[in-house]
Amino acid sequence: MTSKLQVDLGERSYDILAGPGLIEQAGERILPVLDRKRVFIVTDANVAPLYLKRLEDSLTKSGIDHASHILPAGEATKDFAHLESLIDVLLAAKVERSTTLLALGGGVIGDLAGFAAAILLRGVPFVQIPTTLLSQVDSSVGGKTGINTKRGKNLVGAFYQPRLVLADTLALATLPGRELRAGYAEVMKYGLIDDPAFFDWLEQNHRNVLDLKPDAILQAVLASCAAKARIVGQDERESGLRALLNLGHTFGHAFEAELGYDGRMLHGEAVALGMLLAFDLSARLGLSPQEDASRVAAHLAQTGLPVRLPAVAGQSWDAEKLLAHMTLDKKVKDGKITFVLARGIGQSFLERNVPEEAVRAVMQDFVKMAGS
Ligand SMILES: NC(=O)c1ccc[n+]([C@@H]2O[C@H](COP(=O)([O-])OP(=O)(O)OC[C@H]3O[C@@H](n4cnc5c(N)ncnc54)[C@H](O)[C@@H]3O)[C@@H](O)[C@H]2O)c1
Ligand SMILES: [Zn+2]
Repeated sequence: MTSKLQVDLGERSYDILAGPGLIEQAGERILPVLDRKRVFIVTDANVAPLYLKRLEDSLTKSGIDHASHILPAGEATKDFAHLESLIDVLLAAKVERSTTLLALGGGVIGDLAGFAAAILLRGVPFVQIPTTLLSQVDSSVGGKTGINTKRGKNLVGAFYQPRLVLADTLALATLPGRELRAGYAEVMKYGLIDDPAFFDWLEQNHRNVLDLKPDAILQAVLASCAAKARIVGQDERESGLRALLNLGHTFGHAFEAELGYDGRMLHGEAVALGMLLAFDLSARLGLSPQEDASRVAAHLAQTGLPVRLPAVAGQSWDAEKLLAHMTLDKKVKDGKITFVLARGIGQSFLERNVPEEAVRAVMQDFVKMAGS
């Protein structure tokens, strides 16, 4: 039941394989893209006990020489200190230009190992084996790699494409429910960007997707990867179109930044709220029917994603502080924020000239509704 898609980027084109059991088949699947039968696996402490041995056994079966390094799990690992220690481990292991790095884990491992691959020896090949829904539908595809700095998230990195993406849908079975739903927010995003029929399908099938029914989860992963591959294929370095993938992210970023990325709000949860506000703003500007904003809210609620800001112990949300975070986002150009707005579900577009007062009003009203 393995399905294949291609990310079309000329000589940097690569396949995305999705389906159940791909980690067990990794050796034979990876073999064709290796320069030499030697790989180095980078993974995290949650994923290693679940899937590392399975991956290693498969590599051994295909005669591929392998070693591995296990990093701590969590966003804090995506920093200079862990990048440095990882590079040191790789050099000590005598990784060569022909050794392929395998990133086994979620977006944290994919972004960090991908960036290490981009800079080690001026670039070694790498393969993504994403194990979270978010990484299967978003971060493993498209070649953005990088780390966080103390001044903000993802501020240091490189565009560096993998040679192959293996999305094993069976790996999602061990993912905590909250992480699964956070990844689902990014799935939903693709419907909202430019595929209304996919959004309709999600409204009908979300339960099967979140219950990981084999056909439904595979279809959701494939539709998402196809959407991302199509957009990245047209605009690899985000000079325009690719920015549509930031739907919900400008508002979402403000909530995450305010909480300091400490896990109280997951990225996908912030994006869920952000998409809600993008549709609310679009409706208030008279661009999109109110009914579509209501459908977005209803679907978020239906899938157990948040529709309000959570109550935060000892703190109250401040609209002005949140607005300030938005203008510090790295996507700001000449002091102006590019918003992803919508003319309706599946009809999003980029807008540089959004009246500040309209954004302020949306944020102020949202803060007033925060949970208590
Ligand atoms: N490069 C891109 O284009 C891009 C796009 C979106 C997000 N990102 C980045 O991705 C990161 C978030 O990715 P994420 O949500 O996958 O987070 P993550 O990598 O932290 O994974 C979430 C949690 O799930 C655990 N986990 C992973 N797979 C598991 C499995 N199969 N079973 C049980 N537990 C498992 C991890 O150990 C971790 O604790 C952020 O750093 C974000 O900036 C990058
Ligand atoms: Zn995202």
